[in-house]
Amino acid sequence: MLRTRISEILETKAIDAHVTVAGWVRTRRDSKGGFSFIEINDGSNLSGLQIIADQDLANYRSEILKLQTGCSIVAFGTVAASPGKGQTVELKADTIKVVGWADPEVYPLQKKRHSFEFLRTIAHLRPRTNTFGAVARVRNAVASAIHGFFQEKGFLYIQTPVLTGSDCEGAGEMFRVTTLDPTSVPMKNGSPDYSQDFFGGPSHLTVSGQLEAEVYALAMGDVYTFGPTFRAENSNTSRHLAEFWMVEPEMAFCDLEGNVALAVEFLKYVFAHVLENCSEDMAFFNRFIDKSVIQTLESLVKQEFKTLTYTEGIKLLEKANVKFEFPIAWGSDIQSEHERYLCEEVFKGPVVLIDYPKDIKAFYMKMNEDGKTVRAMDVLVPKIGEIIGGSQREDDHDILLSRIKAMGFNPDEYWWYLELRKFGTVPHAGFGLGFERLIQFITGLSNIRDVIPFPRTPGNIAF
Ligand code: 4AD
Ligand code: MG
Repeated sequence: MLRTRISEILETKAIDAHVTVAGWVRTRRDSKGGFSFIEINDGSNLSGLQIIADQDLANYRSEILKLQTGCSIVAFGTVAASPGKGQTVELKADTIKVVGWADPEVYPLQKKRHSFEFLRTIAHLRPRTNTFGAVARVRNAVASAIHGFFQEKGFLYIQTPVLTGSDCEGAGEMFRVTTLDPTSVPMKNGSPDYSQDFFGGPSHLTVSGQLEAEVYALAMGDVYTFGPTFRAENSNTSRHLAEFWMVEPEMAFCDLEGNVALAVEFLKYVFAHVLENCSEDMAFFNRFIDKSVIQTLESLVKQEFKTLTYTEGIKLLEKANVKFEFPIAWGSDIQSEHERYLCEEVFKGPVVLIDYPKDIKAFYMKMNEDGKTVRAMDVLVPKIGEIIGGSQREDDHDILLSRIKAMGFNPDEYWWYLELRKFGTVPHAGFGLGFERLIQFITGLSNIRDVIPFPRTPGNIAF
């Protein structure tokens, strides 16, 4: 069946064109004049299309008058200018075929506002709502902008593995992957004998593609990965998922300053792309979710991103006239309440914090000359806090080896990563952007579970 997407019909406004459209009924309204208005949505845009079904249609009484929210139909007809308000064109139907019925007694989506909590329990139907349809289209546009940005800049897209034997962040938050029978795990000296496991050793789902991206950066120059990552951290917050998507560029012959510059240029590119390509969906978010999202993106495209050191940030937080839940002092981890304070209260915009204490950051970050801080960078934004974490990487073999040992890791497991620093080492840097945090920021949705199709969180693996 050759069907025309509703978005295309509304864009071209080809009055008098004969088209076939197909989608799901949102509402049906019957006029006293002997015809019905049927609103359908096919996922291609937010507003959908109004179909005029005249009583002369063969199945008008037998079927059309029984159409309800959720039914699927295929309509053939003529595009006409719409006299009604709310739409510019409509479809005057010659035929309407009902493809699938949806019993209103049991179909859970009705033409009213449902809570996001309820919609999470019907993740198989929620993409048929305005909000989740809009999220899906914005995710698609952002993914396309991400590839567009890096491709235009000549970065090579590298597919890094999901199954891994190494722990990139060293934070011990990995999901184990095994084919051993959980009811009779082979043991050796009191611990599970992973030499009998599928890969002949312990294996996990990756927390980041960075280490493998570094391998390719140190051969291909500028690369990026974009894929799913997994973290078994038991944090039930509105910003954490156990499975999320991460974009990770990695650049050879690049230092921290170049890394910060890339991150800022990248974010601005994505925001501009969304404003230009998702205007209908963004207007919806701006109206119903957060009245500031469009203005925020518009000003960020132009605004300078303030860069300051962790040490400077701590001084501002110590001076702050607010009571934080987590007390703050040099050396302590910056929590999201602190990140948000800096963005929302002090700088009224995004902030790039650099040069964090080595003890609160990963082993691979390049040591500063002070011996206390590392060349880390976090990009913080209002309402969310951290959306990007990155660094210049330690490129000195001996310093890296001592960092790995000092953190209590086994250098043998990082032998290939260490060898990159033995053979043609170069300064290099990169970062990781949390895709869902970015979508949260763009749409204004406050819970990260509502910006990914099928959220995985502690206790939650349905769908
Ligand atoms: O700061 P993180 O842990 O950095 C890394 O993984 C580096 N290896 C990246 C790199 O340098 N190539 O994570 C990067 C970003 C965070 O800033 C955050 O936006 C997101 O990933 N993130 C999460 N998003 C959703 N749920 C979680 N549990 C997340 N953990 C991190
Ligand atoms: Mg981080």
